[in-house]
Amino acid sequence: MTVTLAPMEGVVDEYMRDIMTRIGGFDLCVSEFVRVSQQLLPASVYYRYCPELKNGGTTASGTPVHVQLMGGDASLLAESAQQLVELGAPGIDLNFGCPAKTVNKRDAGATLLQWPTRVHDIVYAVRKAVPVHIPVSAKMRLGYMDKNLYLDNAHAVEDAGAGKLTVHARTKLEGYKPPAHWEYLAPIRENLSIRVIANGEIWTHEDFQACKSISGCSEFMIGRGAIARPSLAQEIKKEREDKLSWGEIMGHLHDYNMLLLKMDSDHRRAGRLKQWIKLLSRTYDPSGALFANIRRLQEPDEILGSISGAIAA
Ligand SMILES: Cc1cc2nc3c(=O)[nH]c(=O)nc-3n(C[C@H](O)[C@H](O)[C@H](O)COP(=O)(O)O)c2cc1C
Repeated sequence: MTVTLAPMEGVVDEYMRDIMTRIGGFDLCVSEFVRVSQQLLPASVYYRYCPELKNGGTTASGTPVHVQLMGGDASLLAESAQQLVELGAPGIDLNFGCPAKTVNKRDAGATLLQWPTRVHDIVYAVRKAVPVHIPVSAKMRLGYMDKNLYLDNAHAVEDAGAGKLTVHARTKLEGYKPPAHWEYLAPIRENLSIRVIANGEIWTHEDFQACKSISGCSEFMIGRGAIARPSLAQEIKKEREDKLSWGEIMGHLHDYNMLLLKMDSDHRRAGRLKQWIKLLSRTYDPSGALFANIRRLQEPDEILGSISGAIAA
């Protein structure tokens, strides 16, 4: 069984990857998407999204970080992937799932699921461009407006030579609205011979068991559930029985805050902390109380003061 920490733009940055892989249970991380739309990007952009490239492509605790590319131009993506491999990326993931309007308008993300041949051509070009020992994978939703093409897209990814397909079990239209349709994962797994990773709405051990039995998958990707319950991957792997204590979580919040101090502005640091505390409230009542205190605060100083006070108490 493997558990991957999901890519989450604006949430799972280098600091969150560091904290989560320190806690443990994750076999792999995927970076936030890097959009390639018109020209090759300078190395500095890749280092910004994935500073782990300067650490052999792993987090401080040794978990590999694959870099996710998003775009609609197969040859530009292929060249970008080559560039990334030269910078030390241990794997390339291709995004066919982003639902954002601005992204879809620019011919990238989930919109490409309307044309399985385009999905194929992108994966094929990237696979061909990078050395065979570098894994190339794709992450897709079940479709754009409907699920009619979900198997065609899955086959397109396999036929183009990807080694792994992660499926967020919803269409673009379904956004993030529960439920995730895990029942669609079983036919994908049965029809493909490459690895199929189940993703979507795994928040608890019970959700994991349901997803596993409905999908038949043995590999999982967890996003929001991992941020809300940082021990979830370990619990799933039976490496620990229960969630981390609130005291332990506070320790991690403190460490996260320390890492975030390297961020460019207090405004962003306060936003990131607030965001994590909000998700943690799903699992921890004291986090709910803390979030209630800070939810209406706008000034970074006030937010950071309240959080530091709670951590120090
Ligand atoms: C705030 C946010 C940002 C996301 N950013 C990305 C991204 O950069 N690349 C990607 O493939 N998926 C992205 N996703 C989708 C997640 O990787 C995942 O597929 C989705 O959240 C469902 O899994 P979950 O229920 O475990 O969170 C994002 C999701 C959220 C909520």
